[in-house]
Amino acid sequence: MFKNVFQGKKVLVTGHTGFKGSWLSLWLMKLGAEVHGLSKEVFDDPSHFHLLHLDEKLASHNLVDIRDFESTKGVFEKVQPDIVFHLAAEAIVKTCLDQPKDAFDVNLGGSVNILESIRSTPSIKAAVMITSDKCYENVEWDFGYREPDRLGGKDPYSASKACAEICFSAYYRSYFCHRKDLGIATARAGNVIGGGDWANYRIIPDAMRAIESGKDLIIRAPRATRPWQLVLEPLSGYLNLASELYLKSSSSELVGESFNFGPPTETEISVNGVLEEIKKRIPSLKWIVDEKDPYAKNEAGLLKLNCDKALRRLHWVATLNFSETIDFTSEWYNHWLDKKDITEISTHQISRFEQRAKERGILWAQSNEK
Ligand SMILES: NC(=O)c1ccc[n+]([C@@H]2O[C@H](COP(=O)([O-])OP(=O)(O)OC[C@H]3O[C@@H](n4cnc5c(N)ncnc54)[C@H](O)[C@@H]3O)[C@@H](O)[C@H]2O)c1
Repeated sequence: MFKNVFQGKKVLVTGHTGFKGSWLSLWLMKLGAEVHGLSKEVFDDPSHFHLLHLDEKLASHNLVDIRDFESTKGVFEKVQPDIVFHLAAEAIVKTCLDQPKDAFDVNLGGSVNILESIRSTPSIKAAVMITSDKCYENVEWDFGYREPDRLGGKDPYSASKACAEICFSAYYRSYFCHRKDLGIATARAGNVIGGGDWANYRIIPDAMRAIESGKDLIIRAPRATRPWQLVLEPLSGYLNLASELYLKSSSSELVGESFNFGPPTETEISVNGVLEEIKKRIPSLKWIVDEKDPYAKNEAGLLKLNCDKALRRLHWVATLNFSETIDFTSEWYNHWLDKKDITEISTHQISRFEQRAKERGILWAQSNEK
C-alpha cells in the first residue's frame, strides 16, 4: 500500500482527535508509521478517538491549540516529523457562522502557524495541508470545480479555507519552492460520511443521535444534494498524495499544487435519498422535514469537484460506489448501536477498503514496489 512509504516514518497529524484525523491516525498506524498527534482537547462525547483508545496507542498525543504559535512550533521541534498532515480546523459551517473570528483565527491563523512550523523544521520531507471543496467561490455551476478555479466563500468557514489556500500559495512561492527536499501540497475534498462522526449540524451524526434518543431526525434541506463519500476516500487521496510527494519531492507535477478528491458524479444524491438508503440498513431511523429553519438559507447549493488532476497525476480515483458507501457507514453505526468493539470494526473497514481498492486495480493499493 502507498509504496510502503509510511512504514517506520514519523508522521505528525494535526486534528488527530477529530473525525477524519482519528481514522487517518488509525490507518497510518496500520501502515507501520510512528504517529504523533497535535490537537486541542476532545469535546465530543462519544468520540471515535476515545473509542479507539488512541491516546494510549499513539507515539505522542499533544493537546495544543494551533492558535498558540510557540506551543505548536514546540511540538514540531520535539517530534521532528518526516511527514505532516494538517487537518486541525474549526470544521463546522454553522459554528463558523456563529463565531467568525474563531473561524479565521483557527483556519487561517492556525494554518499560518503550521506553515511557519513546517518552515522551521528541516526533517519534514512531505506535507499535505487539508482545506475543503468550499474554498472555491461557489457560483452554482452544474459542472465540477477544477483546481485553478476562483477561490472565495460567502460564509466564514468557506472564506477561511480559501484564505488558508492563498497563504499556502504565498509560503510555497516565497519559501518552500527553494527547499528541494520538501514536497508540499494542499488537498480539497467535500463532505464525507462514515462511522465515528458525532459533530453537530452534520446529517449522519444528527441521525444517529436521533436514533439513540428515540426521536425523529429534523432535516432542513431534503432535496439538497451533496457529493457523499466515505471518510476513507479522501484519506486515501491524502495518503496517496503524501507518499508521492515523499518519493518525488522535487516533482513540479505535485509540489506546490492543490488536488481535489471527490466521488464520481453518480454519488450526488439528495439528503432524503441518503436517509432512505440508511433506513434500509438501520430501520429505527425516522425523520421529518422543517424547511422553515433559517439556517437552511445559509447552506450552499450543489458543489461538485472535478478530480481529473488527481486521476492524471496520481492515478487516484474513489474506490466505493454509493451503495457500498452507505453499507460501510450503516455497518459501523449498527456496530456502535450494538455496543460492539470499535477498534475491531474500524480496523476491519480499513482492511476491507484497501482490499476493494486492490481488486479494482487502484494504484495506491497495489503492493509494494518503491
Ligand atoms: N468532515 C467533512 O465533511 C469535511 C469536508 C471538507 C473538509 N474537511 C476538513 O477536513 C479537516 C478535518 O475535518 P473533520 O471532519 O475531521 O473535523 P472535526 O471537527 O471532527 O475535527 C477537527 C479537529 O481539529 C482540532 N481543532 C479544532 N480547533 C483547533 C485548534 N484551535 N487547535 C488545535 N486543534 C484544533 C479538533 O480538536 C479536531 O481534532 C478539517 O480541516 C475540515 O475543514 C472536512
